[in-house]
Amino acid sequence: MTAGAGTRLWPLTHSVNKQMLPIYDKPMIYYPLTQLMKADVRDILIITSAYDLEVYQTLLQDGSQWGINISFAVQEKLCGIADAFLIGEQFIGRDNVVLLLGDNIFHGGNVDDSLKNALNNTSGATVFAYPVEDPSQYGVIAFNESGKPVSIEEKPQCPKSQYAVTGLYYYDNYVIDIAKSLKPSARGELEITDVNRAYLHKKNLEVEILNENTTWLDAGTSASLLAAANFIHTTETKLGIKIGCPEETAWRLGFINDEALIVAANRYAKNHYGQYLLKLLAGSATC
Ligand code: DAU
Repeated sequence: MTAGAGTRLWPLTHSVNKQMLPIYDKPMIYYPLTQLMKADVRDILIITSAYDLEVYQTLLQDGSQWGINISFAVQEKLCGIADAFLIGEQFIGRDNVVLLLGDNIFHGGNVDDSLKNALNNTSGATVFAYPVEDPSQYGVIAFNESGKPVSIEEKPQCPKSQYAVTGLYYYDNYVIDIAKSLKPSARGELEITDVNRAYLHKKNLEVEILNENTTWLDAGTSASLLAAANFIHTTETKLGIKIGCPEETAWRLGFINDEALIVAANRYAKNHYGQYLLKLLAGSATC
């Protein structure tokens, strides 16, 4: 999902979509997109506003350059994250579905394995929780003594745990029916937390806890946007790698061959990004 007014970032996002903003050397959308690719999710629907549709189509094309299928849909009115399942009903068909918010960036730790693990479930839902200092900014999930989830609340004033629900979710096909039954919340949105609560009540909600080696960045404010860019810059520079690089992920996972990587690299051959891709082929990048 990449619609949203991004008002916490105005004037930055007054006329530029939040997920098009740079996180150091790439547009923000590259990071969640690569996250999905790493879990072998290759049929992807980008949901955005009518205003932003064209720039997404120009940037991402149909995905074939990265060995994936990208489709696009417009969210006419900002009526909440759970609207994704109404907009995406035809796209989802009879399948299970991953939802990833376009401003959520994950790196390292157990996120890749946790997502792959969740994708093995054929029924129910899985959310991915992460301990944070100020949970009241997020959906918050609380557990009983045996570690079973007992409550989930959206931005509670008095959070019952430290565990934020991140913007990565996996659902069985029943999610479409749940989304259709939702009523808008007090703030007028179809809340993703209400979807998750419906699964919780059916005792069909799994929670994957992201471990302390996982970095989760929600680049929704100017401070967190800068922190995200600094994190990517520092990590990439120190380790000589790229994070959220769809060309590299596609090549490493065999979605594209060497020739397609060369074509991708040559688009940027004069800059560091293109040279990095060419070095991958020469086997000299450390990753
Ligand atoms: O980042 C995790 C959090 O994301 C969760 O903990 C919360 O439970 C969940 O509600 C959400 O909270 P945010 O306050 O961060 O949501 P926000 O309104 O900022 O939207 C997140 C992304 O979803 C944003 O990149 C734009 C997109 N979006 C949002 C809405 C409301 C849409 O595409 N359409 C929408 O109608």
